[in-house]
Amino acid sequence: MADRLGQLNVRFHNLPAPLTPLVGREQEVAAVCALLRHPEVRLLTLTGTGGVGKTRLGLEVGTNLLADFADGVCFVPLAPMSDADLVIPTIAQALGIKEAGERTFADLLQAQVREKRLLLLLDNFEQVLAAAARLSALLADCPQLKLLVTSRAVLHIHGEHEFPVPPLALPDLAHLPESEALAAYAAVTLFLHCAQAARPDFQATPANIRAIAEICVRLDGLPLAIELAAARVKLLPPQAMPPYGSKPCAACLRGAIICSMPRSNGSSGGSPSLCAAAPWKRWKVFIRHSAKGQQRCWTGWPPSSTRACCDHRSRRGRSRACSCWRPSASMG
Ligand SMILES: Nc1ncnc2c1ncn2[C@@H]1O[C@H](COP(=O)(O)OP(=O)(O)O)[C@@H](O)[C@H]1O
Ligand SMILES: [Mg+2]
Repeated sequence: MADRLGQLNVRFHNLPAPLTPLVGREQEVAAVCALLRHPEVRLLTLTGTGGVGKTRLGLEVGTNLLADFADGVCFVPLAPMSDADLVIPTIAQALGIKEAGERTFADLLQAQVREKRLLLLLDNFEQVLAAAARLSALLADCPQLKLLVTSRAVLHIHGEHEFPVPPLALPDLAHLPESEALAAYAAVTLFLHCAQAARPDFQATPANIRAIAEICVRLDGLPLAIELAAARVKLLPPQAMPPYGSKPCAACLRGAIICSMPRSNGSSGGSPSLCAAAPWKRWKVFIRHSAKGQQRCWTGWPPSSTRACCDHRSRRGRSRACSCWRPSASMG
């Protein structure tokens, strides 16, 4: 089978089709596309905490730029790996380049991409930051190549441009608009979409819309957390969801929500791993998979302090059990 780049005049892409509609992000998509169309921008890194929507934004940008890259847009997921040495072979494989004789993947990649107008979307680069220098070399050898990278951290290489991905648009709780206007905020819209996916008869009403807005604000407009919170409408109306109306419990809800995520590689293991951090003011959330595959979560401040699920530790190091949240069957 000929490699994909061998078909010189065929524009290709392997971008996965999204399963849900993109909410908001009009300005970010336009801004990132404009940056990548700029001749001087060769490497653009979408940064932000886990779950803020980097991958989703990158995929949308890649789709929008298909007409700008005559040789295609190639999505290269790096989440499953932690070995920086595998980055170049993984890119080559995503492009359909096969091993040939003694030549290294780096050689083959440079030889085949050198003249191509190609956009590579490298997803989850924070796993393999040590490979950043290899991207510099690739860009130097392939003058028409551009890289769009998603990463929790910048790569710190020459010529890198950073685009910090903001949370979804949120209403101001101090000046909440009328119910109908609230649904125009992307965070609220995402909650409604996800709630309706979980419970088809779910509707925004004057009775629940303020609670929804408040949950979105307390989750800092983070799409992943909003998706997971909205799925709970199967069990509870938004007005009854913790931590509605109760500030200290926000950390607990966030922790519980984030920790209901499966590990990205689906494995279970004994030691807690950091699965989210940052937008909630330096709280760190850990997940541990028990031998039976059950998940328990801990939130910590500082990271060494761990408390069982539903406990959380204040900034001053005081720990207290939180009464507003009970782990439910849905948390696994
Ligand atoms: N603008 C958006 N509209 C709809 N869903 C979104 C949006 N942004 C993110 N999501 C969803 O939120 C979740 C987390 O987004 P993702 O792009 O994977 O975050 P990140 O790559 O920053 O960890 C995914 O399920 C994604 O589909
Ligand atoms: Mg991602």
